[in-house]
Amino acid sequence: MANFENLSIRPVEKSDLPALREIARSTFADTFSDQNAASDMDKYLNDSFSLEKLAAEFETPGALFFFAETAGKVIGYLKVNWGAAQTESLPGKMLEIERIYVLSDYRGKKVGKALFEKALSIAQEKKRDGIWLGVWEKNTAALHFYRKNGFVEFGTHPFRLGDDEQTDLLMKMEI
Ligand SMILES: CC(C)(COP(=O)(O)OP(=O)(O)OC[C@H]1O[C@@H](n2cnc3c(N)ncnc32)[C@H](O)[C@@H]1OP(=O)(O)O)[C@@H](O)C(=O)NCCC(=O)NCCS
Repeated sequence: MANFENLSIRPVEKSDLPALREIARSTFADTFSDQNAASDMDKYLNDSFSLEKLAAEFETPGALFFFAETAGKVIGYLKVNWGAAQTESLPGKMLEIERIYVLSDYRGKKVGKALFEKALSIAQEKKRDGIWLGVWEKNTAALHFYRKNGFVEFGTHPFRLGDDEQTDLLMKMEI
């Protein structure tokens, strides 16, 4: 359970897209700005988190977004994909956690765990064989979080941040 008494996890609705854009941009920027060039960050933030791009992802069958909220404030979000919505096609019936982000002031308080448990319950509902994700090899805090929640590494894939070609570690857990 979360450390918050009134933490709720709820599906993002179409009218929430501006709030989704705001939390997506702010969490991405405060997680990765220190270790990346400002030009690469700007390019990625503008390309990946425009309202048009988020609206298209929102409408994609097999993609689902959730907010973590406390006292009416959005403090984290989750994006999961299955079927053709996944960013890679892996063997078996898998669910991808594409994004799991918590506002910096709220990290370490089990909000991430609550979002992960939401992903797990969707994977179980949809009778998936497992969950997988890609995480930047230099994101040691997230790697620790995933290992703690039962994920193991099984490969790598390239990830482009602006003009920088990076390596994501692929991790999975069976259900
Ligand atoms: C990774 C993340 C989603 C975890 O959510 P969280 O609510 O902070 O994590 P929880 O409280 O449920 O779990 C705590 C664990 O998360 C890890 N963790 C990651 N970042 C942390 C942070 N800034 N503060 C505290 N714990 C953090 C620790 O391993 C911690 O385990 P510990 O108690 O053994 O130290 C969140 O820290 C986050 O948004 N980080 C930045 C964005 C990111 O890297 N997302 C993943 C991209 S692939």
